[in-house]
Amino acid sequence: MTQSGAGEAEPTTRRTGRAYRLDAGRTVALSTAKAAWWTLNGAVARAVTRPTQGPRAQPIAPGAPAPDRSVLRRAWKEAFAKDAADVRAGLYPSPERLTSPLRALATAIDFVIDARAVDRRRRAGDGVEVRAEVDAAAYPAYYRQNFHYQSGGWFSSQSANRYEAQVEALFSGTAGAMRRRALSLLARALRDRDQRDLAIVDVACGSGAHLADLKAAFPRACVVGLDLSCAYLATAMRRSGAAGVQANVERLPFADNSLDALSCIYLFHELPPRIRPLAAAELARVLKPGGVLAFADSIQRTDAPELARLLELFPAFFHEPFYESFQTTDLTDLFGKTGLVEEASDTAFLTKARLFRKAP
Ligand SMILES: C[S@@+](CC[C@H](N)C(=O)[O-])C[C@H]1O[C@@H](n2cnc3c(N)ncnc32)[C@H](O)[C@@H]1O
Repeated sequence: MTQSGAGEAEPTTRRTGRAYRLDAGRTVALSTAKAAWWTLNGAVARAVTRPTQGPRAQPIAPGAPAPDRSVLRRAWKEAFAKDAADVRAGLYPSPERLTSPLRALATAIDFVIDARAVDRRRRAGDGVEVRAEVDAAAYPAYYRQNFHYQSGGWFSSQSANRYEAQVEALFSGTAGAMRRRALSLLARALRDRDQRDLAIVDVACGSGAHLADLKAAFPRACVVGLDLSCAYLATAMRRSGAAGVQANVERLPFADNSLDALSCIYLFHELPPRIRPLAAAELARVLKPGGVLAFADSIQRTDAPELARLLELFPAFFHEPFYESFQTTDLTDLFGKTGLVEEASDTAFLTKARLFRKAP
């Protein structure tokens, strides 16, 4: 039983080839345990809630081919293999660490109990329950929703503490490995830079799993998390040991041309189409000339036509009101219009990462 993130890793520059290999072996062992644990958790939650039974289980696109399980399994395994290869190459330290069995069990029990409330919301089609629960007038309407039908939306510490379990169970333990495709691109892009000169912000850091990985990979850099949710930001700061800023991506509190690097993971599929260009322009504005953005989000249908059915089912089973429009958003073009040029990309399981650079 493991969890992602390790704030106290030593700088990768001081380590030897043998240490990298040991780290990679450790990553494989812990990732395997983690995959088994979260697959089990997901199976228990599904057994308790039976999400494929009832009115919302109707096939959405009866003509489309069912997702090929062997394709999925191969892609799932590949995510872990790429992660271990990057640890072996010294791009970042082993991201997995042991957590106490009691703590892991408590997290799992909380996740499974809450899965019933999630399922109730799903069956009722109620993705905005949170509007009646919190005084959230200061937040944009698109934000005041129970994304994923989660209890408390983005507004409670219980939700923030549970979030990582929900995504790891959903993706059978690959969430951390998928996010680290963005870390891999970033680590390659910044390999020759002195970390002490770097200011890096993880935009929409959520509950901080990637922020913790970022801090471990760049221990000497100034690494900051940013999120609109106070509750999620507090969890992220605690998990990673990084500093945090509460702000809306539409108005980033940073000067023009001031940051060396940004990461932004799983945000854009949750933004309405009219907000995406504003957010992209803000990310571009705050980057220094030559600065880089490591971006990761769901794969799109064009990346994996054989998984089209799965990508259609996703927003119906999890409240994702803007996912369909994300599927047809040309990200290269969206960021290209802000002056960010796509330089590299990498895919792991259901996530695609891209590296964009602002013209020097
Ligand atoms: C799907 S979660 C992803 C979190 C994290 N990056 C991860 O990989 O787990 C989306 C996050 O975006 C944040 N968010 C959504 N809209 C935002 C906005 N307009 N400005 C800043 N953060 C926002 C939410 O609070 C939430 O933490």
